[in-house]
Amino acid sequence: MQDTKPSGVYGAPPAELAQTPEGATQFSPLIPGSARLEEQPEKSLGEIAVLAPPGTVERRYVIALALRTLAPGGSLTVLAPKDKGGSRIAKELKGFGCEVSETSRRHHRICTVMRPSEPIGTDEAIAEGSPRLDAALGLWTWPGAFSWNRIDPGSALLEQNLPPLSGRGADFGCGIGILARTILASPKVESLALIDIDRRAVEMAARNLDDPRALVRWADLRSGTDLKGLDFVVMNPPFHDGGAEDQSLGQAFIRRAAEALRPGGVLWLVANRHLPYEAVLKSAFKRVTPKTEAAGYKIYEAQK
Ligand SMILES: C[S@@+](CC[C@H](N)C(=O)[O-])C[C@H]1O[C@@H](n2cnc3c(N)ncnc32)[C@H](O)[C@@H]1O
Repeated sequence: MQDTKPSGVYGAPPAELAQTPEGATQFSPLIPGSARLEEQPEKSLGEIAVLAPPGTVERRYVIALALRTLAPGGSLTVLAPKDKGGSRIAKELKGFGCEVSETSRRHHRICTVMRPSEPIGTDEAIAEGSPRLDAALGLWTWPGAFSWNRIDPGSALLEQNLPPLSGRGADFGCGIGILARTILASPKVESLALIDIDRRAVEMAARNLDDPRALVRWADLRSGTDLKGLDFVVMNPPFHDGGAEDQSLGQAFIRRAAEALRPGGVLWLVANRHLPYEAVLKSAFKRVTPKTEAAGYKIYEAQK
């Protein structure tokens, strides 16, 4: 009988462009509950399909890990929109020693390779895409996580304007813990739930905040939370989903914050000035105060 190896998938490749192997294990860090490609044993998978991320360091890391986990004779399909890294995939795969067969469909480049007997340069690509201590940020960070090598200007503005908070709170879309570091500087904060959809972000946040008050969770806030009666929520909500602008994401974050707060509890939010959050803030909160506006960002304090 033939030995059928398990298969894997990274992200959600469109079905009309690449077939996701049946029963494939999901490895995307952006899908809560998925497995860790870093921990998958070498040469253990027969087939992998990867919807490649746009960032170069992150994409090369994922491709290198995928090649490492592929069994001899196994096949790897890597695809991405042309303008989001797709046009570079073939060259990157060749650099790892692969013979590439490439097609182009619906603005995507789709590359298929068999595992080379000895992939080249994968250890370097894995090292480059792994967690690192960023001396300038003074934080552990992971290429691919939001704002992994700089402080987002919106978050910087919110940090400067945040008063010392107190009681039980949450940091929605916590990233690597930049805002949480400031929030936890207040000794009156009793606990802080940090939630993010990106496993890399929550792992870095946990490492960056060596504080028993910080409770880190890997979860999709769109599916709701069990948080209730909070004194405060702080957020710089996302407005992109899978690379495309999605304003409903930030609006969902605002509704979730209102559900989690006690009457009188406060939400501190920073957002790009052009984003239409005021209507949803006013419908979910008793009092909405624009606090400051600078460099294209706006900060609101909203009281439930
Ligand atoms: C604009 S970033 C802010 C990150 C961090 N607070 C900072 O200031 O650097 C928004 C964060 O929300 C996370 N995010 C996006 N969609 C999410 C969702 N559905 N549920 C939870 N977190 C999500 C992203 O991974 C990202 O880390």
